[in-house]
Amino acid sequence: MKWIFLLLCSVTLFAKDPHPVTKVNAWFKEEKERTEGRFFKFASLATVDAEGNPHARMVEVTHFSKKKGALFFTHAQTEKVQHLSLNPHASLNFYLPHTHRQLCVDGVVHSVPQEEAEKAWEQMPRFMKLTFLSSRKGEPLESPEALEIRKKQLQTEYPKDIPCPSTFRGYHLKPERIIFFQVNRRSFPTKEVAHLDKEDWVCTQVEP
Ligand SMILES: Cc1cc2nc3c(=O)[nH]c(=O)nc-3n(C[C@H](O)[C@H](O)[C@H](O)COP(=O)(O)O)c2cc1C
Repeated sequence: MKWIFLLLCSVTLFAKDPHPVTKVNAWFKEEKERTEGRFFKFASLATVDAEGNPHARMVEVTHFSKKKGALFFTHAQTEKVQHLSLNPHASLNFYLPHTHRQLCVDGVVHSVPQEEAEKAWEQMPRFMKLTFLSSRKGEPLESPEALEIRKKQLQTEYPKDIPCPSTFRGYHLKPERIIFFQVNRRSFPTKEVAHLDKEDWVCTQVEP
């Protein structure tokens, strides 16, 4: 009898994974279930420039793991790369409209190793690689046809494989705080704040 009681206690204790990234991925799964499979983890990424002026823009988070955090890729010539090289603190905001939820993920970014960027590049569809290489990010557009012309030239230059360019950059945003916000129909919203206290995550329900 004593053994059964102990077993039940340990099952209850370990049934719930307290790591907030487990809940993040559960929220993504629940959102995806309401979108007939067409779900992308798009988030607004906020960074600051050298003077502390903020700027936010969308990115696609391709993976979110407990160990490394949120993974996204970008072009070396974007403002975010410049900002992150000066200040690695950043914030991702995911809006999950079908489940009426918001996730705020604040933390510090780390560049992904070259091999990891190359692996991601290999998995990208060819048209996305061509689009990536065709753009001279941020520069004034010479003409409406300029991008298509460069894309055609690249198709000739690379009839088969397209090697990973040095301008393809990846970052992991390692969370230090995650805020779960749920809008509840005809009721109060709920807000849970998870913050990293040294090695441990502390989760608190706060007034919404
Ligand atoms: C839905 C959506 C997803 C996007 N995903 C990415 C992305 O994963 N990586 C990226 O570099 N830019 C992405 N962009 C473009 C960026 O928002 C941004 O315009 C571009 O990267 C330039 O960024 P900058 O402001 O840092 O210069 C996306 C835009 C939209 C609208």
